[in-house]
Amino acid sequence: MADTVHITLDGRSVETTRGATVLEAARQAGTEIPTLCYDPRCAPNGLCRMCVVEAQGARLLQAACVTRAVEGMTITTEGPRITRARKTVLEMLAASTDLSETPDALAQIAETGADITRFAGGRERRPPVVADNPMFVRDYAKCILCWRCVQVCADDAQYAFAINFDGRGFDTRIATFFDKPLPETTCVFCGQCVGVCPSGALKPLRAWELEQDASPAPCP
Ligand code: FES
Repeated sequence: MADTVHITLDGRSVETTRGATVLEAARQAGTEIPTLCYDPRCAPNGLCRMCVVEAQGARLLQAACVTRAVEGMTITTEGPRITRARKTVLEMLAASTDLSETPDALAQIAETGADITRFAGGRERRPPVVADNPMFVRDYAKCILCWRCVQVCADDAQYAFAINFDGRGFDTRIATFFDKPLPETTCVFCGQCVGVCPSGALKPLRAWELEQDASPAPCP
């Protein structure tokens, strides 16, 4: 069996390695597909749907980060249907999440013209900042639920399994078991979760303290 496969990407013939995803094939060919949850350091999970593309013959848009490139596949990475889907992802995310420290989302909002007020007035998630340890803070109002922190804490890297998803739908969040403070969990404070967080939801305690100091004082 050949080690390579050939797909048609936006009308161009592209060769990629067998087993590569459509996202990897596109990037090898110099075609940029936007992503939010994808990080090459983690196993792709297909959660955010920002990377959707059209695969000829498929009824639904496909997440490029988890779709394998197979011989003869025809992929389109841009078009009105794709843009509409990406805009809706961003508009729904913005309705519940503080995206001020998620540069990839901000860039895509500007690129697609997403209306971040479209679902305003819904259910914003504004949980308080958790500073329960001397190493880092968790500001889940900024969490985009990309799952990278859970993955590196688990079998993508550290095998500590200190955090995971909790809840359903709008109430989905990252949490420790029984919401225990991190020092009472299996967390070893390796910092890998902070390193892969794309949204400012996890940051070193000192950096967070400096930000607070830099905030305008309530009186002169
Ligand atoms: Fe593909 Fe998030 S980047 S689903």
